[in-house]
Amino acid sequence: MKVLVTGGAGFIGSQVVDALIARGDSVGVVDNLSSGSRRNLNPRARLYVVDITDPAAVEAVFAQEKPEAVSHHAAQTDVRRSLADVPFDARTNILGSIHVLDGCVKQGAKNIVFASTSAIYPETQALPIPETHPLQPVSAYGVSKMTVENYLALYKLAFGLRWTAFRYGNVYGPRQDPHGECGVVAIFSGQLLAGATPTIFGDGTKTRDYIHVDDIVRGNLLALDGAGDGEVFNLGMGREVSDYEVFQGVAAALGSPVMPIFGKKRPGELDRVCLDITKAQRVLGWSPRVTLAEGMAATVAYYKKGAAQSGAKG
Ligand SMILES: NC(=O)c1ccc[n+]([C@@H]2O[C@H](COP(=O)([O-])OP(=O)(O)OC[C@H]3O[C@@H](n4cnc5c(N)ncnc54)[C@H](O)[C@@H]3O)[C@@H](O)[C@H]2O)c1
Repeated sequence: MKVLVTGGAGFIGSQVVDALIARGDSVGVVDNLSSGSRRNLNPRARLYVVDITDPAAVEAVFAQEKPEAVSHHAAQTDVRRSLADVPFDARTNILGSIHVLDGCVKQGAKNIVFASTSAIYPETQALPIPETHPLQPVSAYGVSKMTVENYLALYKLAFGLRWTAFRYGNVYGPRQDPHGECGVVAIFSGQLLAGATPTIFGDGTKTRDYIHVDDIVRGNLLALDGAGDGEVFNLGMGREVSDYEVFQGVAAALGSPVMPIFGKKRPGELDRVCLDITKAQRVLGWSPRVTLAEGMAATVAYYKKGAAQSGAKG
């Protein structure tokens, strides 16, 4: 199958690309390399360094590639930046996504899989949260992802485009940016390996539903093959894990005695997240396979190896 992956040089997108190429698919990648990197990119993928906010450039890639299916991962992913610069977030995540949807319709792609987020849910004690829970994002990032879900439904109705949206929990694993704003497994690993003291924003009790990137990739392949048409699915472990538990896990894996600093809670963030994943289990036959303990150990080992290699080079 011919697949176009937007954001295919990023943390998750690059691993979707690897899995597609490993099973023999032909893959084009659209990425402006703003947070992604050529280092992540499979050498057998065709890279177009294009910004999804440029409709003509996006359409030209679609015309060249003529993909049958699209995996849409390109996005501005920083929750705090989404509140600091709402127009930038909306231009990238809403208008950019519309350009990708238009590319599908104009150039004959049949199916799109969209990386949505659990950040579209409100604060709730009704955990785990099912997909049917009313949506009320507390960040512009969440609003933009929710808006694109609505456009997906519209593009199916108006133009017959098939789609699946995944509301990811907190995805972790190799290639996540340890210097970024998101992804505490990567951030704590990077900081502890650099000899810095990690800061936990809040009192450490904030919870998220962590899910390993390999499980996310498996869900994406099912949907790219046509499962779950016109549906939204939560992808997580269905388990709450606190910031402090993650810190302890990373510190234990590194054998570090360092204790974190506790900083002020940041705006735009929920206190608790735990996803109801029974719909993905029932409809897609998808279940998480990587346990948190295995996934954290492998991820920390990945960063340790990277730190050792860059230390050896330097
Ligand atoms: N990592 C998570 O925990 C998580 C959770 C929920 C949803 N998501 C979603 O999954 C997707 C991938 O996230 P990630 O964690 O791999 O982030 P990432 O930053 O590693 O990947 C995003 C990719 O998109 C590219 N990009 C950004 N703006 C672009 C633009 N204007 N034009 C073209 N390319 C652009 C970046 O260069 C990068 O390669 C995003 O849509 C994100 O919102 C991620």
